[in-house]
Amino acid sequence: MSEFATPVPAFSDAEIQKLVREIYGIDAAASALVGDRDQNVALKSSTGEKYVLKIANAAEDVSILALQAELADHLAAVDPSLGIAQAVKSLSGASIPQITAKDTDGTHAVRLLPFVEGQLLAHTPRTLSQVRAIGAYLGRLTRALQSFGSPVAHRPDFMWSLDNATGVESFAGDILDPADRALVEREFFRYKLRCKPHLQGLRKSVLYQDANDHNIIMQADDPDSVAAVIDFGDVAYGSTVNDLAIALAYLLLDADDIYATARALISGYVGVCPLQPKELEILFDLAAMRLVMSVCISSNRAKDFPDNDYLTISQAPALACLRRLDSLNREFLSCFARHVGGCEIFDGQRNVLASIRSAGKSARSLLGIDIQSAAKSLVSMREGARGAEYIEDQSQYTSWLTECMAREGSEIALGTYLEDRTCYQMDQFQSEAGESRSVHLGVDVFAPAGMSVHTPLDATVVSVTNNDAALDYGPTIILAHNGIPGEGTKQPFYTLYGHLSLTCLKTLKPGQKLAAGDKIAEIGDISVNGGWAPHLHFQVMTSLLGEEGNFFGACEPSVVDVWQQITPDPNFIMGLAPESFKYDPLGPDQLLEERSQLMGPSLSVSYDKPLKIVRGKGAYLYDHTGRQYLDCVNNICHVGHANPRVVTAMAKQAAILNTNTRYLHETILTYSDRLLATLPDNLEVIYFVCSGSEANELALRMARNATGREDIITLDWGYHGNTAGLIDISPYKFNRKGGTGRKDHVHIAKLPEAQAAEPIDHYLESVQQGILASIDRCGDGPAAMIAESISGCGGQVVLPDGYLKSAFEMVQRAGGVAIADEVQVGFGRTGKGMWSFVEQGARPDIVTMGKPMGNGHPVAAVATTRRIADAFANGMEYFNSFGGNPVSMATASAVLSEIEDKQLIAHADAVGSYLMDEIRKMSAEYPAIMDVRGRGLFIGVECTGTLGGDIVSFARDRAILLSTDGPHNTVIKIKPPMVFSYADADTLMAVLKDGFAHLSP
Ligand SMILES: Cc1ncc(COP(=O)(O)O)c(C=O)c1O
Repeated sequence: MSEFATPVPAFSDAEIQKLVREIYGIDAAASALVGDRDQNVALKSSTGEKYVLKIANAAEDVSILALQAELADHLAAVDPSLGIAQAVKSLSGASIPQITAKDTDGTHAVRLLPFVEGQLLAHTPRTLSQVRAIGAYLGRLTRALQSFGSPVAHRPDFMWSLDNATGVESFAGDILDPADRALVEREFFRYKLRCKPHLQGLRKSVLYQDANDHNIIMQADDPDSVAAVIDFGDVAYGSTVNDLAIALAYLLLDADDIYATARALISGYVGVCPLQPKELEILFDLAAMRLVMSVCISSNRAKDFPDNDYLTISQAPALACLRRLDSLNREFLSCFARHVGGCEIFDGQRNVLASIRSAGKSARSLLGIDIQSAAKSLVSMREGARGAEYIEDQSQYTSWLTECMAREGSEIALGTYLEDRTCYQMDQFQSEAGESRSVHLGVDVFAPAGMSVHTPLDATVVSVTNNDAALDYGPTIILAHNGIPGEGTKQPFYTLYGHLSLTCLKTLKPGQKLAAGDKIAEIGDISVNGGWAPHLHFQVMTSLLGEEGNFFGACEPSVVDVWQQITPDPNFIMGLAPESFKYDPLGPDQLLEERSQLMGPSLSVSYDKPLKIVRGKGAYLYDHTGRQYLDCVNNICHVGHANPRVVTAMAKQAAILNTNTRYLHETILTYSDRLLATLPDNLEVIYFVCSGSEANELALRMARNATGREDIITLDWGYHGNTAGLIDISPYKFNRKGGTGRKDHVHIAKLPEAQAAEPIDHYLESVQQGILASIDRCGDGPAAMIAESISGCGGQVVLPDGYLKSAFEMVQRAGGVAIADEVQVGFGRTGKGMWSFVEQGARPDIVTMGKPMGNGHPVAAVATTRRIADAFANGMEYFNSFGGNPVSMATASAVLSEIEDKQLIAHADAVGSYLMDEIRKMSAEYPAIMDVRGRGLFIGVECTGTLGGDIVSFARDRAILLSTDGPHNTVIKIKPPMVFSYADADTLMAVLKDGFAHLSP
């Protein structure tokens, strides 16, 4: 007969007092304690010591009691702080003396244990720090037990051993309630599926196996600290993780919040005693199994001892807890435990995340429109957010949103990932874990019903389901995507598309293969999509957690950290600018208003609808709503906006030193050397300044110093800078709005028409006239002629062959200096070499450069001949506070390296030629395009009337940035960062084609 089938011993108080006196020599008063198989008695000696006397069941195996005594001695030696009570020896020196009951022939082993001071866990208020302390205590206990071994501890048939769970499976039939029985049977099924196959591989050690709230003693003065555990009756060898699982089972019985309790317990435990991923993975299954065992055993014993309430005392809470656990996704609980235990949520999950990030780099748009460049609004479903008052009535919400998007001119509106949505309080979002599932796990893309939805990646259809319950997803697609080869994994990841129209239910089949960009569905309307304003719920999953056809779209706030591993940010695939998900309260209107207060009105702003640009990357700019614009007009951020190499070089040097040229520094010398090497040999000396204007101003001073003259010949419609002296030599300024006309010392040489009809002598004649006029005016001719090698402000005009060469030579022959202004067109923009004057065959005495030189950092330069530099050194110091400082030099060096290493000059030539060819082909259809011209990535499209400006506005609305130039602003100028790609050229072309088709007269 087993000890379970044998009645609990029943010695009277008088008998007990007598035997305690006889065996231990202690006079003590006795009072009964509860016990399910031992008779337990509290004793208080006449001298005040407290003990617990345990009179074992007659069927108890004495060798197990000896094992417990041995174990207590071991634990006391290895970790005395565990507070494990060691048995008091009898007068004859025995740890486990034997007694015989009067009225039965059974012998009973007796143990006298010092009473452990403190309070039963069962009698203390439950707090998370207490649970964490229990976890840490059990971790210490596990560690101490790991160094204990005894053959007696191997109890393969011990009924309470969790490793032997299926030993009590037959008792399930004793559970009277059929629903409870089914619940328990489900748990056995899960156990066999999820735990059994792994048991052999788990770490083993001697286990305590009974951390329940009547065996854990908390400190008397601190209910959050563990004093000790008592009752080692269930000690047995088994899977190490079982002790934690058993404690978890008992603690969950009265836990309000399953996740918080489990997190506290596991994290406390692993902080002391790390667990292996598999142990954590099955922790909740083992905990549930412990509850199942307790229900099975008590149900079985209830048959034989119908009067023993203690047997069934824990059954009701155990069943209630099992029902809660049964309602939660068990694979999620595995992920949760693994995550809290410090492991990846499933084997290979980090690789899956890496392949999602990598796949995102080449993902296609989710919708029929390009969501990156689409104009966007941002919506929120938090309490108090705009429109929140309509959320309860989704048709009203739809109207509100449609109006809001029309007002903001947006094509889509976004609802954010991980938003804690107060609106998710309905029944569907309640969780048995203790919180409601209010945190949104996808991204919502609100767009008109009927807009097409596309797979962003190659895919296989996993499921197409109509989840048609109210407020569910409606038609839902789940796709699988293979890991990317080379990323070290082939494990799939998944994407989910919810709230679709009904069509996909017919057109897609599980198993169907799809190519990136294939249309899979349309956005559904409120009548079919679960009852929501039309939108796509897009979500990415690293695991389906065993779910089929549907998947969690929201989670409990306390477990967001785990869900982030299961449903990572969908934007890894969507690739939207981060600004798309943050509301910026300071929009363009507010900034414009403030700017008009604080800044001078002569500053202009691009576009009728000005842009607030907040970030740049490569050839792209991003506005405050995250809308991506293709920048086709910024020739300053030459090697790409926010070029990482340039930014790093600049930041690195700024973190070390930034001074001026009065101190010696290598950077300026190395850079000068590199820069001069790109220029013709006659240009040997370099000066650094901070802007193109400063460079031209210095060039004029040098020319005047070297020649002792004042007059300047300038090319018509030229612009050379913003200083008083440079406005004087810039017809683009002095002959246009606000200008005061030509000054006497300035002579204008003709700018050949774009398609120069006349031979160059016709234009050179005007240079000659300038020389003569200058001689006339002051007797000795011009100090200099200044000209851009390709005219920028003049309308992207490429000068006819030989013009610049001859014009410069004429001025040089007349004793003047030739200044090539390469501020716009230098550094390889025109695709034929570093400097455009070289292509023109010109041989200037001074070259000025700026704009692209620092990729946006203010650095510019003047290169000249030794003769001119020496003449300039007439005793007056040339000092420039900033010019040539180490930061500018480090920055400019990095720009030069980027141009060289990325072969951007050849790239500009190739992409520019391609683009120009495409524009020319298009222009054949539109007589309003008068000319297409340029070199490399410096292109002009001359149009009639206001067409150029109209196209620029059209393109801005389509997220393409352009502008116009030329004397009458009729030329669309195209001069993008040099990293502009063929694909970018195609994007631009698509919009230009559309624009001309719409707007051309
Ligand atoms: C040809 C040319 N030279 C000089 C300048 C003046 O340069 P910055 O604006 O750096 O003073 C400009 C500016 O647009 C320019 O286009």
